[in-house]
Amino acid sequence: MGERAKDSTLGVLVMAAGKGTRMKSELPKVLHPLLGKPLLGCLLKTVLRCGPSAAAVLVGYKEEQVRGYLQSSFPSVEILRQGEQLGTGHAVQVSRGWWERFGHVLVLNGDLPLLAHQTLLSFVDSHLEADASCSLLSFAASNPDGYGRIIRSPDAVSIVEHKDAAPEQRRIREVNAGCYLFETKALSRVIGRLKNDNAQGEYYLPDAVGLMNGEGLKTQALIAEERELLGVNTQAELAAAAVSVRDALVLAWMERGVRVTDPSAVWIGPDAEFGPDVSLMPGAQVWGNSSVGEGSVIGPYCVLQNARLGRRVRLAAHVIVEDSELCDDARAGPFAYIREGSLLREGAFAGKFVELKKTSVGKGSKVPHLSYLGDAALGEGVNIGAGSVTCNYDGRNKFPTKIGDRCFVGSDTMMVAPVTLGDDSMTAAGSTITADVPAGALGVGRTRQRNIENWALRKKALTQ
Ligand code: UD1
Ligand code: CA
Repeated sequence: MGERAKDSTLGVLVMAAGKGTRMKSELPKVLHPLLGKPLLGCLLKTVLRCGPSAAAVLVGYKEEQVRGYLQSSFPSVEILRQGEQLGTGHAVQVSRGWWERFGHVLVLNGDLPLLAHQTLLSFVDSHLEADASCSLLSFAASNPDGYGRIIRSPDAVSIVEHKDAAPEQRRIREVNAGCYLFETKALSRVIGRLKNDNAQGEYYLPDAVGLMNGEGLKTQALIAEERELLGVNTQAELAAAAVSVRDALVLAWMERGVRVTDPSAVWIGPDAEFGPDVSLMPGAQVWGNSSVGEGSVIGPYCVLQNARLGRRVRLAAHVIVEDSELCDDARAGPFAYIREGSLLREGAFAGKFVELKKTSVGKGSKVPHLSYLGDAALGEGVNIGAGSVTCNYDGRNKFPTKIGDRCFVGSDTMMVAPVTLGDDSMTAAGSTITADVPAGALGVGRTRQRNIENWALRKKALTQ
């Protein structure tokens, strides 16, 4: 973190053991998603970008769920436990054995998803330059209710919690953001002396700042933007935070050459990546680790989740792509559903009402309409007639279908897997293909037609 911080060790401790009562939800607050990413993940991503010596998260309420998320998404982050949640001061007390090994410890509320890494970096720099024992971030709140108020005196700050504040203190608009940087030696001197004789019966971490003042140690509050420090406490605040992050993300991508018809009508996640000249039409949503290559068009109401799109890919309206890849010049939609593990190679096409699952479509091959292909591998230059289906599931197991290069599958072909169509083979429309079709052959799997002369005329005469 910054030039000077590199030679002094810095631990980051994120407090995420609380329930988040005001979310009125069974899900722990820190796991509520903001643009598809849990609040805790947004904060940790920012924290880790700053390059601390180590980072740890304190878990408690529904700890198994939070633990599970951390282990899968942030394996480098350590997990500490706060059995009973007796307040933020208590949280820092129980993790003492962890943070005392560092020169400085950055302690953060878990619900600060909007904090920018630049802000954090300059916060650390200012702390080190001022040689303070404690620095904290504050902001001028448009509505300070619920926050701890900052009481300033020359060379020191202290905090009084909303519920403990006198009426004249409640008029103060500068509030504590829940982001503290302590010199650990100083913190060790006071952390054991917190008391819970306050309105909430909790051990308050902000009281440690007051205790430092009593020891003649330097404390300071650095003012930052409210926009970045708004804590998320309710569903309404979560939605407002999502809009604000979305606006910033979309703007940043536009500055890098992404064309957006209506910035208020697209949703993109924080980990999505775009090349220049990508077009995002109204209703487009791009989530997870999706990437969209140069010149691609994401049509109206397309939803991408962990999708990798090459260059000049064109998605018409209402295409859903999940955990799949579309190579350069591939096309899909309208109304295509490209499910997990699928691959459209260069110039391939999946059109109207087509569902693909774990299916690869070779170069220039087309699945234009009304088909389901699952566990299938298609070669190059294949054409799949409308209404064709791979019957890949017998109720217990899934079986593969292989369709060779330049195959022409007639409309409404049922391919009962496991089955292989050799290169350059064809199937007759309406066939049920239960056996392999050799290369170059025509597979016909249907009953022969017979015509009954005058049958229709006779029926008409009878019913008149
Ligand atoms: C806290 C601050 C307040 C500040 C506000 C900013 C205290 C006492 N007050 O209040 O000055 O203005 O944040 O949003 O700290 N947590 C634990 N263990 C606990 C209690 C809390 O890990 O025992 C975690 C929570 O999960 C949460 C964070 O600490 O991520 C803050 O706790 P919360 O109870 O929301 O504090 P506030 O009342 O918001
Ligand atoms: Ca809070």
